[in-house]
Amino acid sequence: MNSELNLRPLAIALAVAATLAAATIVTVATALPAYAAGQEAGAPAEPASKPWLDKSLSSDKRAKLALDAMTQQEKLNWVLGYFGADFVPNKTKKHPAALPFSAGYIPGVPRLGLPALFETDAGLGVATQLSKNPRERTSLPSGLATTATWNRDLAYQGGAMIGREARASGFNVMLAGGVNLLREPRNGRNFEYAGEDPLLAGTMVAQQIKGIQSNNLIATMKHFAVNDQETGRFVLDARLDDTSNRMSDLLAFQFVLEQSNPGSVMCSYNRLNGVYACENDYLLNQVLKKDWGFKGYVMSDWGAVHSTVEAANSGLDQHSGWEFDKSAYFGGALEEAVENGHVPQARLDNMAYRVLWAMFDKGVVDNPVKEGGSIDYDAHKLVSQADAEEGIVLLKNSNSVLPLKAGAKKIVVIGAHSDVGVLAGGGSSLVYPIGGNPVPGIEPTIWPGPVVYHPSSPLKAIKARAGGAKVVYNDGKDTASAAKDAADADVVIVFAEQWVGESLDAVSLSLPNNQDALIAAVAKANPKTVVVLESSGPVLMPWVDQTAAVVQAWYAGSGGGDAIARVLYGEVNPSGHLPTTFPVSESQLPRPKLDGDPKKDRERFTVNYHEGATVGYKWFDAKGLKPLFPFGHGLSYTQFSYSGLAASQKDGKLQLSFKVTNTGAVKGKDVPQVYVSPVGVKWEAPKRLAGWDKVELAPGESKDVSVTVDPRLLAMYDGKSKTWRVASGGYKVLLAHDAGDTKAASITVQLPKQTLNVAGKPTK
Ligand code: BGC
Repeated sequence: MNSELNLRPLAIALAVAATLAAATIVTVATALPAYAAGQEAGAPAEPASKPWLDKSLSSDKRAKLALDAMTQQEKLNWVLGYFGADFVPNKTKKHPAALPFSAGYIPGVPRLGLPALFETDAGLGVATQLSKNPRERTSLPSGLATTATWNRDLAYQGGAMIGREARASGFNVMLAGGVNLLREPRNGRNFEYAGEDPLLAGTMVAQQIKGIQSNNLIATMKHFAVNDQETGRFVLDARLDDTSNRMSDLLAFQFVLEQSNPGSVMCSYNRLNGVYACENDYLLNQVLKKDWGFKGYVMSDWGAVHSTVEAANSGLDQHSGWEFDKSAYFGGALEEAVENGHVPQARLDNMAYRVLWAMFDKGVVDNPVKEGGSIDYDAHKLVSQADAEEGIVLLKNSNSVLPLKAGAKKIVVIGAHSDVGVLAGGGSSLVYPIGGNPVPGIEPTIWPGPVVYHPSSPLKAIKARAGGAKVVYNDGKDTASAAKDAADADVVIVFAEQWVGESLDAVSLSLPNNQDALIAAVAKANPKTVVVLESSGPVLMPWVDQTAAVVQAWYAGSGGGDAIARVLYGEVNPSGHLPTTFPVSESQLPRPKLDGDPKKDRERFTVNYHEGATVGYKWFDAKGLKPLFPFGHGLSYTQFSYSGLAASQKDGKLQLSFKVTNTGAVKGKDVPQVYVSPVGVKWEAPKRLAGWDKVELAPGESKDVSVTVDPRLLAMYDGKSKTWRVASGGYKVLLAHDAGDTKAASITVQLPKQTLNVAGKPTK
């Protein structure tokens, strides 16, 4: 193990990594917190009885009882977290009790029977901090891939699977549940999130959190909030007004919270309207705790704390990985602040109570974790593969070039190391593959690298299905040689890739490393060219008209190679649908140029989210822009038709019913999408996604589907009265294949006026 490798907060931009490493070393406060090793000196002895361990009591009651038994020092220890690896810039060593190369650790209180918290990243599986000797685990496909399934159950199963691996690895807190809205297609962390629509993103991430927490673990909704780009994330000031925020970014978080009740929430690095998120009273105290009634604890992101009094009083409950900050703000400084009355004792009590509540409520105390549990990797790979298979989106398919047909004599596979694996995204969420990285040494090899491929080879999986065809692999490095190989093939499959990572946005939406020229040359040589994209999110496709088919495979995870081949060969009928709009060009975006300068990452600047709640397809609709591929788009090897759209109202909620029929020749899964659009009033955009379902149908089969609409999706939020208001009048309901569907079935319904409180509940 080489602790010198851990340079994560420094290498913000690769080009300047070395310079920054020298320039941004922070000074550590002289009084480092001593490592709390279980029982504190002077702490009372173990109590004769521990009533908080009584499982029949409520989580609230148990947390209160445990809190009462804690000393002041134990409460203070409860709210200060340590990084789980040596931290090179500050020359701090990992807490001895933390699991190796883990995200974090918070000591327990053994005398009270309260376990330590062992934290691991993240949404794709059990990650390891940059290490030469990482734990190798199963990786889900990217968050966007899972969201592209639009399949709630798959999101749950994926969460349950990574939660099982976390528990078996000795972790009881998973830093997973990323739901930052995709406002910025270049964001280097889009692959950890769930797209541009608050309902879709919120619903899918909630399912993942439920799956994780089904293992008696705490999951973490993050990064709260408006952490929508990586460039300048430590300093940028995101400007977004309350009303727009409640109807977009915050709404996604609100749905997650309501549907999954996560134990913790992680506040983000950035500022929101001038105030750092982890000392932002509006975000933490007002919105999250008061308006939404969040009962768990707020942990900071690693390096996101800037104060003691301000942060504690604004609602931060636990300081994570304090080594990343200038000081251990929730160490001795918090003790002093409480003594001096700058932070009320009741606030410290509440901080500790919230952590306790989450531990009892999620089963962390009653079901202790232990490292070294067994993991069924074969079964888990299949869970990941099933997710990848449904998340793959068939974007284009001319002349039915796909599925690949038997009888081909020569198939050429080109590029993106598709001979050995599928690409993963970089940063703290990276899950190191079982069996190692088949393509070591690609830059960056340090944070947010290494660049890693999961050793699930598309080429191998294609060969296994190619029958008698000769399958030729070309690495794509030489355009002329790739075009030459392609020229006489029956079909050509070009893999193209875009690597991004935490702290590192894509510099543009164009494919890097001359891949556009490669694809264009290959397609020119052979029009039967299928492009498979392994990208974090949207990319530009100047060659799209020249190619026969385009398959969006995202970062496909541990079973990615097989998933891709199964879709190409029709063993799996593609049913993924885009969770984000693919623009024709960056000039169509609200910010054609990304704000901030990666080279000046510590200089404060503003990102003005002038588009407000008009995010993604809403922006394209409002501006009358035609994207390359619309939100919700996804083709199948069969066709589906809709009929009988009807509306009713039940318990103040709009309900829609309709029939979906498979009119084609093969079995398939469809995602009928319901959008709503007001007739008489003006919203932030012409229409909003109001619901969907995912249905599997045999050829000729029909199924009845019903969708209930959350009234907030028919309302405007009113900041003054803090209510959601549905105006009385007509609303058009569209039953569509995607957000750009011009032939969508529609009906108009009349709705009465309705008012909901800030939490979305009807008011009297
Ligand atoms: C990331 C978090 C992550 C934490 C711990 C931070 O850099 O923003 O998402 O959970 O590190 O590794």
